[in-house]
Amino acid sequence: MTQYSPRVTAALSAVDEDTYVLHPDGSLLTQTTARPLIASTLDGLDVQHGAKVLEIGTGSGYSSALLSELVGPSGTVVTVDVVPGLMERARDLHARFGRTNVTLLAGDGHEGAPDHGPYDRVVAWTTPERIPHAWVEQSRPGGLVVAPVELAGLVKTHAVVTAEVTEDHGVTGRALAPGGYVEMHGADLDQWTVPPRGVDALVHDGQGAAWWVAGAWAKKHPAEAGKLLTGLVDEQPQKVRVFEDSEDPAAFRAWMYATHPDELATLGGPMGFGVGAVDSVGVFVFRPFGPDALSSGATTAQTMARGWVEVWRRAGRPGWARVRPVLLRESSGWRVRAEESEPARS
Ligand SMILES: C[S@@+](CC[C@H](N)C(=O)[O-])C[C@H]1O[C@@H](n2cnc3c(N)ncnc32)[C@H](O)[C@@H]1O
Repeated sequence: MTQYSPRVTAALSAVDEDTYVLHPDGSLLTQTTARPLIASTLDGLDVQHGAKVLEIGTGSGYSSALLSELVGPSGTVVTVDVVPGLMERARDLHARFGRTNVTLLAGDGHEGAPDHGPYDRVVAWTTPERIPHAWVEQSRPGGLVVAPVELAGLVKTHAVVTAEVTEDHGVTGRALAPGGYVEMHGADLDQWTVPPRGVDALVHDGQGAAWWVAGAWAKKHPAEAGKLLTGLVDEQPQKVRVFEDSEDPAAFRAWMYATHPDELATLGGPMGFGVGAVDSVGVFVFRPFGPDALSSGATTAQTMARGWVEVWRRAGRPGWARVRPVLLRESSGWRVRAEESEPARS
């Protein structure tokens, strides 16, 4: 069983998860985060008693209840969600349990919550395209921002970054870990199969299921990308095994995001999504979990993607511990990239 810090373990025992994440009929609320992912993120967030925390993505309210325990009566949690109905549901639950140290705000989390800062910690459970300047500007120097990001500037190239805010309101990357969350969206999201942004071509099959692709090639050639998708509907991609039992596919993905960010594409459809190589005649994309890829057509994409796996093997199968985050200031926010770091010397 995974061990969390004593403070996070105590918070997990103090909050009844089911009360927050289940509807009265016992079904699971869609906007929840898996408990182990919340717990490991909160461990990395290192929240102290008395801290002021900004949370983006209230969802069920479960993570803000845990944060409420961690900051204690002298601390504050300010939590923002773009869906007002969720906010009201969480507000009722927190009131029922006397959680008076949580302030709930309905609105777009990209703006942060300027009237309540500065914050010691910012944590997000929904993925921005860039880390918004507001989150950094509303933080105290020395504060931490822990947020899901897209490492290859491409939808679904997920990771969670931990970054430290500097004296001059810049930000320095500290660590990257695997983990993915829904893309940040507006209040009216009514479907969960197509990412709300970042898709370059989309078709629907005869059953109404969506097939989509994103990436530099598809952006440049949207008509060809549409044709590729139509072909995939007719000749469904096959699942092929790529990794051995002894290999960690998540480690490969970390290395792939760091070494080939500009060549990657994401393909999605009724079978889920994958990230890898796509060209005008076929695809070879690695599934987000497990040892398989989705493949279609005799393609250069397949040769290229399998070649990456071979280079990764020859490099000693480096993983998340061997990539570090680099944050680049842009007008629309902080872009996060993964860079390979040297192996630690023994
Ligand atoms: C995975 S859920 C959060 C789960 C939550 N941590 C929990 O414990 O249940 C992601 C949340 O982010 C919210 N969200 C998406 N886009 C947003 C935005 N632009 N601003 C604020 N919240 C947003 C969604 O409405 C959703 O509730």
